[in-house]
Amino acid sequence: CGIVGYVGRESRCVEVLLEGLRHLEYRGYDSAGLALQRSGRIERVRRVGHLENLERAVRGRNGDYARVTTGVGHTRWATHGRPSEENAHPHLGGSGAVAVVHNGIIENFAALRSELEDRGVRFASETDTEVVAHLLEERVLSGASLREALAGILPRLEGTFAIAAISREEPGRIVAARHQSPLVIGLGEGESFLASAIPALLGQTRRFLLVENGEVAELTAGAARLFGPDGAPVEREVFEVDWDAEAVELGGFESYMLKEIHEQPAALRATLAGLLGPEGEADTGAIGLPLREVRRVVVVACGTAYHAGLLGKAYIERLAGLPAEVSVASEYRYSEPVGDGDTLVVAISQSGETIDTLAAIQAARRFGGRVLAITNTRGSLITREADAVLLTSAGPEIGVAATKTFLAQIAALQALALALAAARKTLPEGELLRMGRGLRRLPERVEEAIGLAAPAARQAAALFESARCALFLGRGPAYPVALEGALKLKEISYVPAEGYPAGEMKHGPIALVDERCPVVAVLGEGLLREKTLSNVEETVARGAPVIAVAGTGDGDARRLSGLLLPVPEEGGLLGPYLWTVPLQLLAYHVARARGLDVDKPRNLAKSVTVE
Ligand code: G6P
Repeated sequence: CGIVGYVGRESRCVEVLLEGLRHLEYRGYDSAGLALQRSGRIERVRRVGHLENLERAVRGRNGDYARVTTGVGHTRWATHGRPSEENAHPHLGGSGAVAVVHNGIIENFAALRSELEDRGVRFASETDTEVVAHLLEERVLSGASLREALAGILPRLEGTFAIAAISREEPGRIVAARHQSPLVIGLGEGESFLASAIPALLGQTRRFLLVENGEVAELTAGAARLFGPDGAPVEREVFEVDWDAEAVELGGFESYMLKEIHEQPAALRATLAGLLGPEGEADTGAIGLPLREVRRVVVVACGTAYHAGLLGKAYIERLAGLPAEVSVASEYRYSEPVGDGDTLVVAISQSGETIDTLAAIQAARRFGGRVLAITNTRGSLITREADAVLLTSAGPEIGVAATKTFLAQIAALQALALALAAARKTLPEGELLRMGRGLRRLPERVEEAIGLAAPAARQAAALFESARCALFLGRGPAYPVALEGALKLKEISYVPAEGYPAGEMKHGPIALVDERCPVVAVLGEGLLREKTLSNVEETVARGAPVIAVAGTGDGDARRLSGLLLPVPEEGGLLGPYLWTVPLQLLAYHVARARGLDVDKPRNLAKSVTVE
């Protein structure tokens, strides 16, 4: 979910809230709502479905809200209670004196709810959030200020949350607090803003304050103040961001996903510039950890970042000769992991706020592991939990299906592998430099890959018109690419898709193969390419339409497959980047051909801040 708040000038409030929500929709879009202070009351508008529905409802009120200066808004990814108007935020206390928006889960809400019900409180929704509204209102009605009320109930709330509230009794004031879920304050001239993430406010300001766990924030038009758990004021340094507002606009593309696919060369250029020297030299210092002491590497991540981690394992083992393993963060966190101070735990998260990845870090802390975060979000929660940070500088990614951040994550992992290899002297310097130089050439190669794949991907999408399912196959470094290709397809086109190691296909998935189950083969190179080709033959023999991702001059691939998704002839470490591009475009065109919203696939959210 995403939350936003504004207090400031007349006529700006509703626009700023809606604009903020538009940039937070990636966090969930099951319903959206606003609560506004208006003529001594709190007025609420909520709608099920995408933000447009709320916008239409608000605009229908023709200038009704011109005088409003203070309000909060919310866009929801349903956890407790189905996506309905009753369950949409903001939630009100029983007499409408306070309104609350919330991101996260109040884990002890059932106990709090029955306690409130015992006191005669009637609930209007099935959400966990509503308990917060009632608890606050009880205190406000018995004379507490909204800030006192919020500070008073915080110790009672368990779980992860960011909360913002307004009160009928205190015009021109918003209070907020967080525990684990992110919350930032934006500072303007005569106006103050609040949001779950910085991009929501980039159109308004570049100056931010980060709210820490357990603090209470109080916003008025003229000031934003923070208070510690003991109620004492807290001084916080203002944080300036350099992202420009254009980075979160469409800029002529028909979707964010397509725009972000095309931004991959720039994302790689910026990321690599921060991680390698100008000649491609590995930068052991940039990582800020004693790399020579590392004996073992554990990578934890979710979703696309997990797939990047699988490639990272291969690079680290191959270049630095260190044993590496990769775990899905939600499994790792409960697995009672073993390790010691020489274990380097690499946590990868685009958003830097995925709750499972944060919990995996905490699990690794318990055995004394050193944590390196790879994230695209400066100042995010994960950066504060980690010992050191490698930033991917891909710029804001809005499309729910990750694209440019995946390539940037792989690049960061490769730079890490090079730095580990340099520190451990596992490869001759000349060899390392050659690899680093190759990496610096990568943006041009990816540019080429986009150009090559674009027409073929559109054609290949036609093979999915009546597809029941799809199989993505690969071996070695092509296997994580196949997993990512399958994930992209299922996320945005809803075609059931499996990524499988090509050699394992005969042990099960081959039963799926027929004319309506296209097989996408990521051939890779060398011996593994030949082995994969044999597996592809097995699917051709069973009638599958085959699409091969292979070099432009690969005659075998052309002969075997119904369609070639050509990639530049470039092997070695750069292969996985180039093989990924056509699969992103393929998923994109399949979803478009089905008339689907590629940026906001159903049921998903870009940042999953709940378990
Ligand atoms: C969600 C998104 C995925 C993403 C995953 C991990 O499921 O829909 O695209 O890969 O979270 O997100 P993170 O921000 O931790 O990389």
